[in-house]
Amino acid sequence: MANVVVVGAQWGDEGKGKIVDWLSERADVIARFQGGHNAGHTLVIDGEVFKLSLLPSGIVRKGKMAVIGNGVVLDPWALFTEIDKLAAQGVAISPENLMIAENAPLILPLHQDLDRLREEAAGASKIGTTGRGIGPAYEDKVGRRAIRVADLGDEETLDARLDRLLAHHDPLRKGLGAEPIDRAELRAKLLEIAPKLLAYAQPVWKVLNDDRRAGKRILFEGAQGSLLDIDFGTYPYVTSSTTMSGMASTGTGLGPSSIGFVLGIVKAYTTRVGSGPFPTELDDADGQRLGERGHEFGTVTGRKRRCGWFDAVLVRQTCAISGVNGIALTKLDVLDGFDTLKICVGYEIDGKKYDHLPTAAALQAKVTPIYEEMEGWHESTQGARSWAQLPAAAIKYVRRIEELIQCPVALLSTSPERDDTILVTDPFAD
Ligand code: IMP
Repeated sequence: MANVVVVGAQWGDEGKGKIVDWLSERADVIARFQGGHNAGHTLVIDGEVFKLSLLPSGIVRKGKMAVIGNGVVLDPWALFTEIDKLAAQGVAISPENLMIAENAPLILPLHQDLDRLREEAAGASKIGTTGRGIGPAYEDKVGRRAIRVADLGDEETLDARLDRLLAHHDPLRKGLGAEPIDRAELRAKLLEIAPKLLAYAQPVWKVLNDDRRAGKRILFEGAQGSLLDIDFGTYPYVTSSTTMSGMASTGTGLGPSSIGFVLGIVKAYTTRVGSGPFPTELDDADGQRLGERGHEFGTVTGRKRRCGWFDAVLVRQTCAISGVNGIALTKLDVLDGFDTLKICVGYEIDGKKYDHLPTAAALQAKVTPIYEEMEGWHESTQGARSWAQLPAAAIKYVRRIEELIQCPVALLSTSPERDDTILVTDPFAD
């Protein structure tokens, strides 16, 4: 049985929520494997809008198991706020349809403090984080001082974990001019939420391995995007997790041999939120138009997204690193009405040509994109459900993208509505 991993192939906000929802109809289990509530996935189902940050997109469908894997950093208070919000929209969430890895590390209020304090101290060189405490929580995981879900089940363990954690954080806070942590308050808060959270805790690796053996279809839902990857992204302007497909295995406990198809989500142009290099960024009327037509505002922070032309160099690079088998191309309709479109096909730095983005920050800062111009189209592609409904120039644009990124289109999305999707290859097919 083919299990599918979905990853964003750009800087996030590629429209993963809709595609995951579309695929989740075919899946039995939907698992998040990295990131936290810095993600913002918008689903539109029968005109109703669902906004998800931490919960897997499949949660809105009946009869599916949603999983939060160990690779995720989990803010328990944000989780229950999101659960309550969805309940108000008629989505019932219980341990029947949600399980959380026992070994997932927690995001605590002190992580959010640190995120904010560091960003404030960085001034102009700030990362532009979502302020959710993601980076500091991952630091504590790797630093072996995180509090994990299972630790909440035993007060003695929790006390030992708190000692270790505060021995690190209190001096750090002092250096940043912040008050020490109120240990008693934090401990009480954790013990208060513990039974609620522990009701969902499972050895996710085991359940998923059993599910796989039973022939269930598993969909792994990536968050953020490949260019925000801690290793391969535009470091240090990245998030703190591995956003590439390989994380689906280590972030849940199901080995890589269980993954049959890697689907890269690719927007028909490029956007980015926060600071950092962006070679094809447009600071003109075209960029403005992309932002307005594409409603490019962050789901989590409401920040305006930076917009630019499609960068085939970067997408080729991320598809290679994640081993993408096929892409889902989204928001093609945002390009309707442009006379000409540009695609970045290479870079020039100090007179030298590059077919990839070099790692050195000094070189990245000097990148000049090499563009290929393509004819635009004036017909509407919005809501198209077959190739026959697309103008010839739009098909040409899509075909050129496939050629340049060396990866075929498996799905084409033409509006936020889940049924406005053209299927070329079913990622779940064996
Ligand atoms: P953090 O993940 O909050 O630490 O933010 C680090 C960088 O990742 C910032 O540039 C954020 O804007 C970006 N980022 C984090 N999550 C998302 C997302 O879901 N979509 C797009 N950008 C994101």
